[in-house]
Amino acid sequence: MRIAISTGGGDAPGLNAVIRAAALSAINRGWEVLGIKRGFAGLMGEDEVITLTKDSVRGIAHMGGTILRSTNRGNPFFYPRKQADGTFKEEDRSDELMENATRLGIDALISIGGDGSLDIARRLCSKGMKIVCVPKTIDNDVSGTVTTFGFDTAVNTALDAIDRLHTTAESHDRVMVMEVMGRDAGFIALHAGVAGTADVILIPEIPYDIGKVCEKIRARDAAGRLFSIVIVAEGAFPRGGASHTLGESMPGQARRIGGVADAIAREIQTITGKETRSLVLGHLQRGGMPTGYDRLLATRFGGAAVRAIADEKWGQMVALQSPHIVTIPIDEVLGEVKRVDPTHDVVQTARATGISFGD
Ligand code: F6P
Repeated sequence: MRIAISTGGGDAPGLNAVIRAAALSAINRGWEVLGIKRGFAGLMGEDEVITLTKDSVRGIAHMGGTILRSTNRGNPFFYPRKQADGTFKEEDRSDELMENATRLGIDALISIGGDGSLDIARRLCSKGMKIVCVPKTIDNDVSGTVTTFGFDTAVNTALDAIDRLHTTAESHDRVMVMEVMGRDAGFIALHAGVAGTADVILIPEIPYDIGKVCEKIRARDAAGRLFSIVIVAEGAFPRGGASHTLGESMPGQARRIGGVADAIAREIQTITGKETRSLVLGHLQRGGMPTGYDRLLATRFGGAAVRAIADEKWGQMVALQSPHIVTIPIDEVLGEVKRVDPTHDVVQTARATGISFGD
């Protein structure tokens, strides 16, 4: 048996722990393991395919990033090909990928990725490739799994930032608006905001009214709390409005969003007259060592993916349905972004403890 592993889309802390657990589980069964570099680029002849040995996955479980590298521009069904005039045109090059996989003797593939990678996996499955998926995203927006690895690390990074913001905000009687990741779902903002006792949390699931945000800040002022912490998910938008877009994306990339914190900070300063600063935590949330929780979850996913291959569960994704790791068909997960339920107990408790959602 020869399996291959690929990591696609934005990286998330814990990827290396999945790679290690999957590789060791497979090698200990007597299987061979290949690592496809940079998403599927290694299978498109545009990067390497390497052999993963016990030695090559030694000492990586605690490391952020991915030893296989990643890309969010590697969809083989829309893969850029250089034209005679030097420009690039996206083409369906999935047949090349299938041929290369056959040539390399790959019997099965573990694809570690988010929504984009799951969609590619589904399409490759329908072309006959044997694939098992491992969900990955710091945003925690993949359905069918309670959580994804990387999310806990991102929440802790954001939490550390909130703790630091509190002291400087209080020293200067300022409003601090911090933007965290979460293009479609506000889980990072919600969890870090509640754990970090923010005053306002703005998420895409609850469109905000800037007037209500300012009401909360003024109410705190009136009560002698002269500073406020506002945590905003990058995909948050005002009632009746749309999320903020960040310039041009590279060809083949999803629309980049962000910049909402700066816009909100300007509005707060204008409306309340309070000095307001903004910051974007950005890719710091994707970097660094995975937390213990993420390392364990990633390791469990890696081991479960190899068991799923042994059980020939093609087209399935491993998932956490506490307390168990299960497998579910990719079709049941695709196209359905997991979002914060505005009636969830975390939201209820946040409101009950005085946090405003700007609604
Ligand atoms: O993984 C998802 C995500 O973290 C989004 O929240 C964010 O919009 C996106 O990645 C940014 O990714 P990149 O800058 O790598 O394109």
